[in-house]
Amino acid sequence: MSDPQQLGAFPTTRLRRLRRHDWLRRAVAETVLTPADLIWPIFVHDHEAALPVPSMPGVERLPVEGVLRAAEEAIRLGIPALAIFPVVEPALKSDDGAHACDAENLACRTVRAIGQRFGDALGIICDVALDPYTTHGHDGLLADGQIQNDETVAVLCRQAVVLAEAGCHVVAPSDMMDGRVGAIRESLDEAGRDDVAILSYAAKYASAFYGPFRDAVGSAAALGTAAGQGLADKKTYQMNPANAAEALREVALDITEGADMVMVKPAGTALDVIQRVKTTFGLPTFAYQVSGEYAMIHAAADNGWLDGEAAALESILVIKRAGADCVLTYFAPELARRLGER
Ligand code: PBG
Repeated sequence: MSDPQQLGAFPTTRLRRLRRHDWLRRAVAETVLTPADLIWPIFVHDHEAALPVPSMPGVERLPVEGVLRAAEEAIRLGIPALAIFPVVEPALKSDDGAHACDAENLACRTVRAIGQRFGDALGIICDVALDPYTTHGHDGLLADGQIQNDETVAVLCRQAVVLAEAGCHVVAPSDMMDGRVGAIRESLDEAGRDDVAILSYAAKYASAFYGPFRDAVGSAAALGTAAGQGLADKKTYQMNPANAAEALREVALDITEGADMVMVKPAGTALDVIQRVKTTFGLPTFAYQVSGEYAMIHAAADNGWLDGEAAALESILVIKRAGADCVLTYFAPELARRLGER
């Protein structure tokens, strides 16, 4: 922007003039949210009844049938895609997370069920990471108290191909291993799935805000047991929240390796990173408003301390203003309903 003095000065210039009426505020709004900006993360489990997530009021672990109903609602509301997160039965978890690569696992069955019912009318995004499947709750293979990078990448490639073959449109590696985007791209292409896109969780921080998610998928307790194996947190692979320049390096590498879209996560604590990623690289930039961000707004609203709906709307609007093209948020269905009412 040029010198603000040349753009006008009080009293000739009065910025409040454009804030006088609702129609005028809407007409000059720089950022507009639509349902197409929202991706709905969904938890699926292998039980017949829905099971609420206590730390995420309003969010439930759904049976596959329930996911199909959510999918139908998403289409009706104009939400472009669901992000599917399986809650894996403890008996199916193992040290090496092998069940992640089983074409009959819950994630694959859910993807197939959505695809059979709705075809390409609704996007399906699947996480690629081992944490739902490992007994220790880590996103990768654990040996000698360390996460094994290259061995993990080989498993992630198989997981990505299995999900692609089940029919998901986008695989989203959320594991933060080095080199996995390039390896996954190569594996997908070799499997004849060059049509499947990669949304890389390029800048994913080791954040305190994932707690409720880990409750929902049961990886919190698992991570507790990992403490016994010498690694109770994810700081050796997820990024230090102190760093932003490093986030740009992560994104640059992932683009070079073939990422179609990148994700910044969490969103609300990384608005600066979202903005820098978008302005530096210009490619589709997604942001994940994570479970803890959702839980905070809900907890305050449920106590009568905040207007929950207004706070949810504002929290997503500013993520888009920062530069996000699309926001993964547990508020997606209620916000899309509200946006549709205008
Ligand atoms: C796991 C994964 C996590 C989230 C999405 N994928 C948790 C983690 O890294 O421990 C968190 C999402 C949320 O908190 O809403 N790879």
